[in-house]
Amino acid sequence: MSDRLFIFDTTLRDGEQVPGCQLNTVEKIEVAKALEELGVDVIEAGFPVSSPGDFNSVVEISKAVTWPTICALTRAVEKDIIVAAEALQYAKHKRIHTGIGTSDYHIRYKFNSTREEILERAVACVKCAKKYVEDVQFYAEDAGRTDNEYLARVIQAVVNAGATVVNIPDTTGYCLPSEFGAKIKYLMEHVDGIHKVTIATHCHNDLGMATANTMSGVINGARQAEVTINGIGERAGNTSLEEIVMICRSHKDLGIDTNINSTKLCGVSRLVSNLMNMPVQPNKAIVGRNAFAHSSGIHQDGVLKNRESYEIIDPKDVGVDENSIVLTARSGRAALKHRMHVLGIELDKDALDKAYEAFLKLADRKKEINDDDVLMLAGQHHRANHRIKLQYLQVTSGVGLQSVASVGLDIAGEKFEACASGNGPVDAAISAIKVIIRRTMQVKEFLIQAINKGSNDIGKVHITVEHEGQQYYGFSANTDIIAASAEAFIDAINKFVR
Ligand code: KIV
Ligand code: ZN
Repeated sequence: MSDRLFIFDTTLRDGEQVPGCQLNTVEKIEVAKALEELGVDVIEAGFPVSSPGDFNSVVEISKAVTWPTICALTRAVEKDIIVAAEALQYAKHKRIHTGIGTSDYHIRYKFNSTREEILERAVACVKCAKKYVEDVQFYAEDAGRTDNEYLARVIQAVVNAGATVVNIPDTTGYCLPSEFGAKIKYLMEHVDGIHKVTIATHCHNDLGMATANTMSGVINGARQAEVTINGIGERAGNTSLEEIVMICRSHKDLGIDTNINSTKLCGVSRLVSNLMNMPVQPNKAIVGRNAFAHSSGIHQDGVLKNRESYEIIDPKDVGVDENSIVLTARSGRAALKHRMHVLGIELDKDALDKAYEAFLKLADRKKEINDDDVLMLAGQHHRANHRIKLQYLQVTSGVGLQSVASVGLDIAGEKFEACASGNGPVDAAISAIKVIIRRTMQVKEFLIQAINKGSNDIGKVHITVEHEGQQYYGFSANTDIIAASAEAFIDAINKFVR
């Protein structure tokens, strides 16, 4: 029998902290339910004291999810812990995740404190959390750069104070796998009672070693891996869930396994990528578009003769639908619905009807509709509830001509029109929209990406707009990149014009 490795998913906390990845509560519940179906053991649902939105999300996820433990993050601060306990009130299984920085960098520069004082604060926060919940996880922030002897003293003290899980984060992604594994081994050998608690790893990917460090920690005794879907997270991200799960499953010799239903991995990966507007790099292990695509003739020949000559994982085991139907203008609504289901998207009848209508228009312009196109179509129904909608856009531009745009907007049922010129077609379209909206706002970031290849491709536009000191994010995708830019701008404006 394999030893169980508990999967602690922090997509909705460490992952959601990334600029541009913010989700609303409804979207977070959708992700939490998908994580529950995937079989994760713990969902870190947020940092309740950080904002009313985070607090509310922890409350609603606690109500919506049954099996996984719901975890809320705090600093080593009494108020944070009280607020986290309140946010967790409806969770069937609850955990408070509290802790403090233990490296000399954190002790000296972040806290202007001493090792002894930090040790006392660590014990105090665990004791405080224990008043509210039985299951208390302690994190030693920047444990990766913390001296092992001092780290063991802190961990010993919090274990004595009642911590049930001790989290050893490599916060800066600095450690080498051998070093990180040795750290876990040191704790296993120097902390009394360590076998009665769970050691967790929480590795960041700044040097591309998050997965290797996590596995090294697991091989040396850690039994909880803190991970995110697609490896999203602060800076270069966190350890990716799908990689850890499939490493354990592929290396049966390790004798370690998780509770994850791996056939759902690709669906959840796409759901998260779609909701967070965070594309998965095509060559990403396990869930990237090219992870199982053999392009060289030699590989194709080898795979056709015997799959195992070039593949160590059966694509079906991670939910890659090899018989995926290529959607074209002749595909029916049922085929679109099936493809969406495979991608983890369920639309109600009205939304599906609208998506199908948009699908037919797109299929007229593109020969084949692929998964990224389908995800884009599924996102379009969100726009139906917007207060401001783009009615029409006409742009004249060309070499030696000044770009001029005419725009029609529908604002809560009323029609407005405006014309403006600009130093290019996007600038002209945005200026015309500004003439109608009349708010002080500034485009801070603007990014156009192609989804696939080819001149008939869809362009995705990510935009950040500043209004009254706050930044608002907008997104759209369209085969017409000027239209996508105007729509993304309007998407952002809808977030502050109510
Ligand atoms: O990276 C880190 O150290 C963290 C802790 C808050 C667990 O995210
Ligand atoms: Zn982190």
